[in-house]
Amino acid sequence: MLLAEKIKRAADLARLAPSSHNCQPWQVCSFEPDFYFTHLDLVAGAHRDLRQVLVLGLDRERCLTALPSLRREMRMSAGAFATLFYNFLRLQGVMVEARLVPEHSAALTELGALQLHHCEPLLVLLLGAVEQAPQAEALARLQQLVESRRTLRTPYKRPVRGGPTPSLPTVLPYRLQDDGPLRWTHCDNSIDIERLARFVGQYAERDFSDSRAWRETYRYIDFSARSGAIEGEGFNIQQLTGPLPAWKRWAYRAALAPALLPLTARFGLTRNIASQLGGLVRNSAALCYLSYAGSPARAAEQQLLAGEAMLDLWLAATDRGMALHPVSVVLQHSEIRERLECLLAEPDEIWFFARLGEPIQPPTTEFRYRRAVSPLAC
Ligand SMILES: Cc1cc2nc3c(=O)[nH]c(=O)nc-3n(C[C@H](O)[C@H](O)[C@H](O)COP(=O)(O)O)c2cc1C
Repeated sequence: MLLAEKIKRAADLARLAPSSHNCQPWQVCSFEPDFYFTHLDLVAGAHRDLRQVLVLGLDRERCLTALPSLRREMRMSAGAFATLFYNFLRLQGVMVEARLVPEHSAALTELGALQLHHCEPLLVLLLGAVEQAPQAEALARLQQLVESRRTLRTPYKRPVRGGPTPSLPTVLPYRLQDDGPLRWTHCDNSIDIERLARFVGQYAERDFSDSRAWRETYRYIDFSARSGAIEGEGFNIQQLTGPLPAWKRWAYRAALAPALLPLTARFGLTRNIASQLGGLVRNSAALCYLSYAGSPARAAEQQLLAGEAMLDLWLAATDRGMALHPVSVVLQHSEIRERLECLLAEPDEIWFFARLGEPIQPPTTEFRYRRAVSPLAC
């Protein structure tokens, strides 16, 4: 297989990475080594015998922007994509060195900056001239896990509480870097889960009360009857509610429309949705969260690695027949996030919070919205 075909295959699989609102904010730019080192050179390091340089980053035109905290979610989403892209390249035998781009790193020349288009670079992949033998078995296993991973927002089996949370060993063959100052905490005792369920039930309504954020979210909801593999972004209303007849889909479309929401909220719609989310949290085998204990100066690049840690746990859970459902509303507004950290007696900032468990039953309809990712030849 040609290198270009391997890159395409890695991108096709990596696009199955989870992303906030399924906005898929990633972008890949491909450079000839000479051009890259003359005009960009975003990460310091030795220039070796290279075939190609890939710059992975955020596509500024696809990023969610309504809240400052969404910057973190964008970097985590790109981190999940980058982790898969890197793994699938290596498993196909491509020699790759991954380097994180420091936050304020800039292109060396105007031409270099222009060639990045809308891309905010986060990771550089240096592709070596020699190749190794592909690892067919490990590749097939990772591909199978990535294809079966989903965000499942259904009720999970009531856990047998009191036993230890099953430890979930890493399933990623390769890591971009060690987690460093990132730490997972699992809560599986009934008192903590009940307290967190009440907390989520109380604060989840905030999703709807920030009109700019809600307008942005609403744009990603598809109210149509489409299902299966769909070209594009976003998610279907039925991924939140379960199967709905046409009239109910249209009723949700109208009731959740940003212009009507202040009115429908008065009739208790948003309160109801928030308490249902609290109910789902109550019916989880465990809750888990990822916190960051490092310096604020390195937070941006660590958020890419937080995406890697998130993806690793998600795939490990999938491997055990478990599912994960992020509950980000409690992190998106700093005053709520700080209350949550206080409730959990957590000294560090929480970057990711999710319910975890074995779904009572899989969803009856499958949805998978994804856009094609073609590395831009620059
Ligand atoms: C950083 C991050 C935050 C997320 N937050 C939420 C959330 O608060 N609620 C939710 O239902 N899904 C959340 N998701 C899941 C995405 O909506 C989901 O990944 C996307 O729709 C693609 O679907 P898939 O994971 O089934 O492939 C989050 C995903 C990421 C990466």
